[in-house]
Amino acid sequence: MNIILMGPPGAGKGTQARVLVEERNMIQLSTGDMLREARSSGTEMGQKVAEVMDNGGLVTDEIVIGLIREKLEGDKKGGFIFDGFPRTLAQADALEGLLADMGEDLHAVIELRVRDDVLVDRIVGRSTCANCGDVYHDKTKPIPADGKCTTCGGTEFKRRADDNEDSLKTRLMEYYKKTSPLLGYYHAKGKLQRVDGLAKMNVVKASIGAILED
Ligand code: AP5
Ligand code: ZN
Repeated sequence: MNIILMGPPGAGKGTQARVLVEERNMIQLSTGDMLREARSSGTEMGQKVAEVMDNGGLVTDEIVIGLIREKLEGDKKGGFIFDGFPRTLAQADALEGLLADMGEDLHAVIELRVRDDVLVDRIVGRSTCANCGDVYHDKTKPIPADGKCTTCGGTEFKRRADDNEDSLKTRLMEYYKKTSPLLGYYHAKGKLQRVDGLAKMNVVKASIGAILED
């Protein structure tokens, strides 16, 4: 079963994808994570990617589609979760072609709906475990008092370079301009499901679970 998690920055895509990986043996394909890996490679492509990401813009379709294509070649396990992909109509077309070539279908496109003012709070308060990528938040999911990640025991936590109000403004604009038109595209295909992303993490998880059981 393959799904897309869609929503603005801070909507909770990564948080919910990690739950699905853990509980349903699915594979998380986060283009954001892939690009962060590419930028740390120090190549010329990595440097260009870093500049675009830090400013909050979108990386070219060509680079992103290439990264996704490579990842689809391996074991499918419980299915793919596309997290932060597609973000443009060109990416959505490419994904349709790639899945068709594999004889695979899309079960649902799940939109996590969250108001802009809440997104700012979520992004500014976010940190991740440097070792396992577990996502924390200063208010809603604080790092434990002993300073150790609950998942792996790691003690180093980092904040993303693009998690500041300026980049976030651009990221939001890019989302509304280039990505939100995809909601209509998938609605027309009968694939779109909406979830209240403002609810508590466990409630969001249950709503997504119900869509997967459907
Ligand atoms: P990407 O890494 O995809 O970032 P994003 O879309 O901005 O989304 P985030 O990771 O910021 O948020 P999220 O929805 O995963 O929220 P999270 O679960 O962490 O992309 C980064 C950049 O890479 C882009 O700007 C672009 O440059 C480039 N890029 C990536 N994909 C691309 C593509 N396809 N094409 C072109 N360029 C691309 O949650 C946020 C916080 O809220 C956390 O602290 C969490 O603990 C908390 N939280 C989560 N759920 C809840 C809840 N229900 N209640 C309370 N708090 C919650
Ligand atoms: Zn960890």
